[in-house]
Amino acid sequence: MLSHGGDRLSTSFLRPDFWENRYQENTARWDIGQPALAFVDWLTDRQPQPGRMMVLGAGRGHDALWFASHGFEVIGVDFAPSAVEQARALAQEQQLSAQFEQHNIFELPNDWHHSFDYVLEHTCFCAIAPEQRPAYVQVVQQLLKPTGQFIGLFWAHDRPGGPPFGSRVADIQALFSEHFDVSSLDPVAQSVPQRQGEEYLAQFSLKGAIARHP
Ligand SMILES: C[S@@+](CC[C@H](N)C(=O)[O-])C[C@H]1O[C@@H](n2cnc3c(N)ncnc32)[C@H](O)[C@@H]1O
Repeated sequence: MLSHGGDRLSTSFLRPDFWENRYQENTARWDIGQPALAFVDWLTDRQPQPGRMMVLGAGRGHDALWFASHGFEVIGVDFAPSAVEQARALAQEQQLSAQFEQHNIFELPNDWHHSFDYVLEHTCFCAIAPEQRPAYVQVVQQLLKPTGQFIGLFWAHDRPGGPPFGSRVADIQALFSEHFDVSSLDPVAQSVPQRQGEEYLAQFSLKGAIARHP
């Protein structure tokens, strides 16, 4: 058992079958069926240089495919086999070359270390146990090249229990602060109704990175 806010939690969500069942039953209610508008706006406004991108907990791959369609070389990972299968099918349907692999994000291959220009996050951080968050930051740090950027769309709510587990913006910033500088961490204008007013888009750079993306 884990605890969160003093409550004891079941740990079934730590296993792939918890998520796999939801994909199989078609009850993956987090899936918005399209890339997050915050990412669409970010790409349009900032026009970042395309590069190699890792999407953690990629689900059915909507965000990954959006970036792939804009010239990014994308690998999406998820430990639910149906999510990976469905993301691959979508990639094929859209004739995009994004790669989707079944992995636990805490057991990624060593040869991916320091090989990504971007790591992307969208409701994966709130899907893991709060106790795993320091390890999550380490995963992001290990994946990024020294000049890499972390782009995260965080659902910062304060309701007990989870998943989705709540967090405060200040906690997210504190958690990443040892290894990352905050380029921006702002509330997003457009969210799906159930997350309205609770989503924040983060752009963090590894400390000491030579700014590649102003
Ligand atoms: C809330 S869903 C979000 C999926 C996708 N990012 C989206 O926005 O549709 C969380 C995803 O993270 C995956 N996941 C949770 N813990 C994971 C882990 N330790 N390793 C890999 N994937 C994980 C789940 O299988 C699920 O697809």
